[in-house]
Amino acid sequence: MQTLCFQGLTKAYGGVPALSDVTLTLSAGRVHALMGENGAGKSTLIKLIAGVVAADRMTVTRDGKTLPLRTAAEATKAGFRFIHQELNIVPQLSVAENVLLGHPAPRRFGMFIDWRRMQDKAAAALASLGAEHIDVRQQAGALATGDKMLTRIASALVAEAGAAEPCLYVFDEPTAALTASESTKLFDVIARLKAQGAAVLYVSHRMNEVLQICDDVTVLRDGRHVLTTEIAKTTRVEIIAAMTGKPVSDAIPARTTPVGQGVACRVTALDTRDLSGLNLSLAEGEILGVAGLDESSQTAFLRLILGQGRIQKGGLEVLNGPAPTSPEQAWARGIAYVPRERRSQGLMLGMGVRPNALFPHLVDYGLLADKRAEVARTRGLADQVRLRFQGTEQPVGQLSGGNQQKVLFARAIAKNPKLLLLEEPTRGVDVGARAEIHGLIRALSTQGSAVILASSDLVELLGLSDRILILQGGRQMAVLDRQAMTPADLLARIYASEAA
Ligand SMILES: Nc1ncnc2c1ncn2[C@@H]1O[C@H](COP(=O)(O)OP(=O)(O)OP(=O)(O)O)[C@@H](O)[C@H]1O
Ligand SMILES: [Mg+2]
Repeated sequence: MQTLCFQGLTKAYGGVPALSDVTLTLSAGRVHALMGENGAGKSTLIKLIAGVVAADRMTVTRDGKTLPLRTAAEATKAGFRFIHQELNIVPQLSVAENVLLGHPAPRRFGMFIDWRRMQDKAAAALASLGAEHIDVRQQAGALATGDKMLTRIASALVAEAGAAEPCLYVFDEPTAALTASESTKLFDVIARLKAQGAAVLYVSHRMNEVLQICDDVTVLRDGRHVLTTEIAKTTRVEIIAAMTGKPVSDAIPARTTPVGQGVACRVTALDTRDLSGLNLSLAEGEILGVAGLDESSQTAFLRLILGQGRIQKGGLEVLNGPAPTSPEQAWARGIAYVPRERRSQGLMLGMGVRPNALFPHLVDYGLLADKRAEVARTRGLADQVRLRFQGTEQPVGQLSGGNQQKVLFARAIAKNPKLLLLEEPTRGVDVGARAEIHGLIRALSTQGSAVILASSDLVELLGLSDRILILQGGRQMAVLDRQAMTPADLLARIYASEAA
């Protein structure tokens, strides 16, 4: 194959256009970036060419010949492989079963599933990603977020005996849930696919990656095509302007006022099942970054403060009182939380924006609820995070990925929390909204809210934090002053702690 051409891509949801007459041409051996703000239509475009959502209009040609593409089966037959943004792993199944999901299972005598061969195949696909550490017999639900993503990516790389070589790989925000080193391995894989002559379509909000690994870029705005060019012929500024329609600064606002006098949180010689030897105190208005390769201990730390977890030894004092004993109590005391996985841990996807944004803050339910006040409150919050939605009652599951993330953040800031616990707050969020969220975090800190920010985004971490706690295997390795640290310094510290 030389070129794949998707023409006139059009899709409306309930009369509201999500994609209008977009044309995209992909070439063999080239990586094509698809960019645009949250809700611009990227995932919709991908769902159309994957045959999982019916297009209102679409013509597909391969080297000039028309290609039928109405169902997922036809897309697979055409040699298209997809890593969708939100399609999650099946938690009850093993890693091996997840990797081979959608592929014919290897069988013995044409009947019995050959588990051994299945495991070998899955392990080979994971190894090609440099993810040998994942045990294929393990239940997928127990994996860390990054490992879940690697499992899904491996699934697209499984070689299928007898099937045509894949000619197109599509990745919808694959690195949003990966660490820097995992991302690097993925980029090696993409380089290999490209060298083998496949076309790659790549969606990401991370400009550096796009500039590094892509050959071409197409930008969508409000469901319309605005720009296609070679990466070598454009600039970061031009791409951002095409996405937003105006210049946007992605600089993170620095601290302008000193941190407060009072203590928001004090941890003394603390041990739990997952954490050990934690010793630190957080001032009012201070932002404490949390870094490390092992995200589960970061989650354990934040959740402990939220009242989920048991202290075995040592002390934890939160907002001048004992640690909360439940999340309900924590929210009531002014502690707010943005969890790591928005769809499985944070949002009620079938419910509207309003209940999702407000539920931890609601005192009166049912008949006593003041719906008009809630709607007004929700609208105000939506404005603050620049939510792109059709109304306060629209189910959150219908929002684009980045807009779902904004709902989660809106909920956390709804009542000016005194202590804000954040895990990956800008995951999947576009440049403009990211700047907005960074501004809101800085503003809360200036007003005296303390913030604990766990993030794998080193620019974000260094841009906002006053100090950075490095956790490894649940142990406190260091608390570093952010002053004069570069991303490279921080990365070196993170890896040094892993080796320790
Ligand atoms: N099932 C659905 N029902 C109604 N509207 C939908 C549905 N799926 C998507 N949309 C709307 O289509 C528009 C485009 O969404 P899409 O998911 O393609 O955005 P995106 O560019 O992938 O954004 P992000 O960067 O946040 O992932 C959004 O306004 C979204 O709310
Ligand atoms: Mg998307």
